[in-house]
Amino acid sequence: MTSLLPSSDIEEIIQRIQSVAQSLSGKNLLLTGGRGFLGRYFVECFARLNAEVLEEPVHIYVLDNLITAGELGRTAPSFPNVTFLQHNVIEPFDTDITFDYVVHAAGIASPFHYRAKPIETLEVAIAGTRNMLEIAKRDHARFCFFSSSEIYGDPDPKHVPMQESYRGNVSCQGPRACYDEGKRVGETLCYIYHEHFGVHTNTIRPFNVYGPGMQEDDYRVLPNFANRLKANMPFNVYGTGNQTRTFCYLTDAIVGFLMVILRGTPGEAYNIGNPKPEISVSELVDYIEKVVGRPIERNIIEYPDSYPADEPLRRCPDIHKARIQLEFDPVVLLEDGLARFLAWTDATYEGKI
Ligand SMILES: NC(=O)c1ccc[n+]([C@@H]2O[C@H](COP(=O)([O-])OP(=O)(O)OC[C@H]3O[C@@H](n4cnc5c(N)ncnc54)[C@H](O)[C@@H]3O)[C@@H](O)[C@H]2O)c1
Repeated sequence: MTSLLPSSDIEEIIQRIQSVAQSLSGKNLLLTGGRGFLGRYFVECFARLNAEVLEEPVHIYVLDNLITAGELGRTAPSFPNVTFLQHNVIEPFDTDITFDYVVHAAGIASPFHYRAKPIETLEVAIAGTRNMLEIAKRDHARFCFFSSSEIYGDPDPKHVPMQESYRGNVSCQGPRACYDEGKRVGETLCYIYHEHFGVHTNTIRPFNVYGPGMQEDDYRVLPNFANRLKANMPFNVYGTGNQTRTFCYLTDAIVGFLMVILRGTPGEAYNIGNPKPEISVSELVDYIEKVVGRPIERNIIEYPDSYPADEPLRRCPDIHKARIQLEFDPVVLLEDGLARFLAWTDATYEGKI
């Protein structure tokens, strides 16, 4: 089966990471959540690296229980040197394979899904992270945990943009706690395994990554809007519409993630996102209007029951650390990224949600 992901995106990522990619040559890499939005891109990047760049192929072992992988995850294409195993990472993974890299990207990332599956959300971040850290400890592998910008909670405005050193403002109760607190404990586990067992751990805190490959029924803000656009219906903006976000196009994000996986300093956490522009959700609709060249009707509505209220008011990364240590530099402008994303959703979404 052929990929639904744009080949030009994969090519762009490969071009940008060529100089560091050779360290994957001949290695074994365990990737959890490899059938999700980000995981499927990783797999296709590794497959392209194998075909075009690496002296020896990197062998990828994908673990995913498909809980939120959706249709695109269930029907993802297969590639040489990529082995898929349907496995729930809250259970130990027994294997004789020795891994050089363990990348733990399994998680329940969409607020709609974690509202419905709070226990699974907490467990994949805690038991799942612990199980994967055990493998990294056994094999002396480099370990990378996908945390989230949500670990900062609802930030004090004087700490926006958020630096990695900001401790955050998170509630341990409420509809978002299963995700936020799970990721915080996952980070604590990374800290413990690094400090006490000498595991080379890194933590990535992604800030709203978007792009082709997001499922139509994912229910994050941009798939929601793309869906309404396709159906020619007004956009629903939850709450006041004044809450701010930043949006990082997928190619920029994957380059940053790979830089952390391959070159991150042991024990360190990195914000990966695009700090510019920080915009309200209402302004995001204005951007989409410009991209599609027509006015879009919008309804400001109460949060539906299916969506966890108590949203953080602001979200904007300080990326100096990744810039200085890893030469991470997002280059895709929001209007360009939106145009690329909406061209893809226009061709693939049905507009039924
Ligand atoms: N995409 C973003 O903007 C973003 C932002 C912050 C954090 N993250 C984190 O990055 C990671 C990847 O995000 P994504 O957008 O690809 O999410 P996604 O929901 O598209 O994919 C996650 C994958 O993990 C799998 N999974 C969940 N629980 C599992 C379990 N117990 N065992 C095995 N597999 C399991 C799901 O089936 C899914 O395929 C997640 O951990 C997420 O929390 C992503």
